[in-house]
Amino acid sequence: MPDGSGKFKLGVLGSGSGSNMQAILDAIEEGSLNAEIVLVLSDNPDAYILERAKKSGIPAEIIDCQGYKTRFPDDSQKLIAEKLKDHGVDIVCLAGFMRLVKQPMLDVFPDRILNIHPSLLPAYPGLMAWQQAVEDGAQESGCTVHYVDAGMDTGPVILQARVPVLPHDTADSLHARIQEQEHQLYPEAIKLVWKKLSHTQ
Ligand code: GRF
Repeated sequence: MPDGSGKFKLGVLGSGSGSNMQAILDAIEEGSLNAEIVLVLSDNPDAYILERAKKSGIPAEIIDCQGYKTRFPDDSQKLIAEKLKDHGVDIVCLAGFMRLVKQPMLDVFPDRILNIHPSLLPAYPGLMAWQQAVEDGAQESGCTVHYVDAGMDTGPVILQARVPVLPHDTADSLHARIQEQEHQLYPEAIKLVWKKLSHTQ
């Protein structure tokens, strides 16, 4: 819950570079998002998102997935949900987190877990959505922030941004332009969700 400053608390889960986490942090520092990232968690001990968190003095921990390569076991999810609760987290942001979140976390944070995906969902769910778009000859792509449900990239859409696919785009060049939009979109979507939650609390 927010403290006296009115700031609400975010927990971020990521498996990679963490550029979206950085964009959220930047929005907070610029004063356009009245929140605080209180905990960063990664299933990948080598993920740069952990470095970024450390550099910014944010507690960062590794998620123990009990040796599973892609699964996020139920009891690990339970532990993580408890940890996020213990830190007073209001909204959980998945930012490049490569495992599916299921009921043990969804039950603890109903309508409070968000994900960012690099396509205009429902188009191109799943991995490497930008590459799927280029290979498919799509003329338009983009990014989506959505509520997380138990499916893969299936929850209700919160906000989307469109990105044209240019004639000479490669998967990488398209992904880079989508990421620029992601970095604007995620803080805006978080703001919107918090506004809705504040009205219903
Ligand atoms: C982003 O493209 C996001 O849409 C996808 O994974 C990527 C994460 O990038 N889910 P980063 O770790 O935030 O830089």
